[in-house]
Amino acid sequence: MSLALENLRAPKPTERPDLWPWSAKFADGELTLGGWPVTKLVEQCGSPVYVLDEPDLVGRATVWATVMAEEFWVGYGMGGGSAYYAAKAMMSARVIELVTAAGMGVDTASLGELTTALHAGADPNMIGLHGNNKSDEELRLAISAGERGIARIVIDSADEVARVAAIAEELGRKARVMIRVTTGVHAGGHEFIATAHEDQKFGLSLATGAAKRVALDIQDYESLEFVGVHSHIGSQIRDLDAFSESAGRLLGLVKDLQDEGVACNELDLGGGYAITYTGQDPEPTSPKDIARALASAVRNKCEELGLKVPHVSIEPGRSTVGPSTVTLYRVGTVKEVPLGDGKSRLYVSVDGGMSDNIRPALYEADYTALLANREASSALVLARIVGKHCESGDIVVHDVALPADVKRGDILAVPATGAYGHAMSSNYNMLTRPGTLGVGTGDPHWIIYPEKLSDLLDRDAYLASKN
Ligand SMILES: Cc1ncc(COP(=O)(O)O)c(C=O)c1O
Repeated sequence: MSLALENLRAPKPTERPDLWPWSAKFADGELTLGGWPVTKLVEQCGSPVYVLDEPDLVGRATVWATVMAEEFWVGYGMGGGSAYYAAKAMMSARVIELVTAAGMGVDTASLGELTTALHAGADPNMIGLHGNNKSDEELRLAISAGERGIARIVIDSADEVARVAAIAEELGRKARVMIRVTTGVHAGGHEFIATAHEDQKFGLSLATGAAKRVALDIQDYESLEFVGVHSHIGSQIRDLDAFSESAGRLLGLVKDLQDEGVACNELDLGGGYAITYTGQDPEPTSPKDIARALASAVRNKCEELGLKVPHVSIEPGRSTVGPSTVTLYRVGTVKEVPLGDGKSRLYVSVDGGMSDNIRPALYEADYTALLANREASSALVLARIVGKHCESGDIVVHDVALPADVKRGDILAVPATGAYGHAMSSNYNMLTRPGTLGVGTGDPHWIIYPEKLSDLLDRDAYLASKN
């Protein structure tokens, strides 16, 4: 077996625990999740299916909430810290129930996300709302929720200020607002998921002074309470210096505003913390080390600028829910395709694809896959896992080493699909979207039901008119 192929093999849970949910084990010849053999899960619940390890999710949420509270504890001369779960990564009422019970707030970005968070019982005082184009309906719900409205509406453009103020006035409330600042720090892998450089749709520029002008504008409105400043610099970021640099630049703005008599009590540094997707990825930095690095950067900059340390929050989405979930697929067609030079690649088609995980097609994201229903004995070969859609870019895993005898009916497990898997799923080719199955707390149970073909047909107005 060549070294290159061995590197492309999916490590088992004992080899790379950071790649798998905490309950994952390869025991008695198959993968188990929450103690349930994958063959049983697929037999009973169908495939593809997202399997979410609930204790894993609770553990990660608890860790994020705890390290932020600890590292930014007022007892250490800091201003307090908190973590908001970025619900765009995976929204469901059960997920919100689990992460909020573990101490996280919820960051939302649409009417649907905000409504689900509120229906799931999240405390409005721990909910944020983002969006570069918020609707009046979204703003109304955010401002009217609970006794004081949600904790922060993150203003993304100059013209939003007057809109939010007018709606708050109409509702007889004072809306709590932050501003989203593009700090010019650009981090993370792919351009579409790197969001703090200037030439993009989000936020208010620090460099041009737009952020400061909007913060000052907000002071003119009785119906607005200025809470603080926010930045989100990208996704899947490993370089903690990027966060520290961005925090430093935000604090520069806080100082500027303070000099103009405007208090800024909160700093949000967004999400974007990297997770492990394949055996080639380095181990991710622990939340404890991340929070400690952020705390030290914020403390040092505040000392330098003579500022009181504000409350600091973050919005980890992927790193809260991503590793909790494994997608299980059934193998269908297996085809050997010659690559020239006597080499070949095994194309292994599964029963899902870009409709349940668009990230490889959208961002060239890498995943890996493990033959999960049996211990493999044959030699490894170079394989590509593809979906069943009418697109040649319909790839689930670009390059992976699989046993040469992988065959129809086998089960493949793709780890780390909890973030932006279900959330970005579609019905392309009229495929029904898979359900999300919760394991690890009692019997397996649906968190999100799988779609039925009738759900899709019911939306067809022409068919409905004929019935
Ligand atoms: C404003 C904001 N906060 C948080 C996140 C979550 O990022 P991640 O899931 O990479 O932690 C995003 C993702 O796009 C975002 O736009």
